[in-house]
Amino acid sequence: MEKDSQMADGFLHKYFLNNSYKSVHKWVHYFDIYERHFERFRGTSPVMIEIGVGGGGSLAMWRDYFGPGCQIIGIDINPKSKQHEADGIEVFIGSQDDPAVIDAIFAKYPKVDIVLDDGSHMMKHMIDSFKWMYDRLQPNGVYIVEDTHTCYWDNYGGGVKRAGSFMEFAKDKLDEINAVHTHGVLPVTDFTRSTNYVAFYDSVVVFERKKQGKRQHPITGSM
Ligand SMILES: C[S@@+](CC[C@H](N)C(=O)[O-])C[C@H]1O[C@@H](n2cnc3c(N)ncnc32)[C@H](O)[C@@H]1O
Repeated sequence: MEKDSQMADGFLHKYFLNNSYKSVHKWVHYFDIYERHFERFRGTSPVMIEIGVGGGGSLAMWRDYFGPGCQIIGIDINPKSKQHEADGIEVFIGSQDDPAVIDAIFAKYPKVDIVLDDGSHMMKHMIDSFKWMYDRLQPNGVYIVEDTHTCYWDNYGGGVKRAGSFMEFAKDKLDEINAVHTHGVLPVTDFTRSTNYVAFYDSVVVFERKKQGKRQHPITGSM
């Protein structure tokens, strides 16, 4: 049974504030978002990919948060990131948009529940990683892209309403969820059939997966 997100206890924010282990680099308002979308996975031995290892502390934070049996997988272009491997933590070296790296991860860990993209924050990388991984996530999985403020920055390939930015890509996904109502204008896709919602926050976009059956709208009660 899924756990209620209201049970969130602020573990991650407290962990972050008290962290004296390896460095973790997060915007403070992300912790509420993590708790809201990750809480239901705690204690369920989830498999999580974090793109972007940095100082390695966030991999350890996720492992402690999700609890025994979870598997945390880092992806980073920096070979030194390997040093952050530990029990329950494996790091794959390569670019986040390299299909060979992603295939290797899914060959070893076919049941991935969570992806958190905190990698290069370049538009092409964010979009390609999403395209390579989203459909392979578990049917109730979650895909989070953070630091999406770079979607507005020219040097990351972004810009306000700029074609090719991850933000425009994500906005189009809202129409894709509703494709069944467009009278054939938009095709119903695997994304339509497998996505519950897309949530937009300041600098974070969350995609929650849930198998969508036929849409129905019965009337109940007396007329
Ligand atoms: C912001 S840091 C990650 C911080 C870490 N997740 C944390 O919360 O503390 C970004 C990381 O992304 C890595 N990176 C940059 N470009 C990348 C790419 N194309 N593919 C994978 N990782 C990349 C960098 O080497 C760096 O370690």
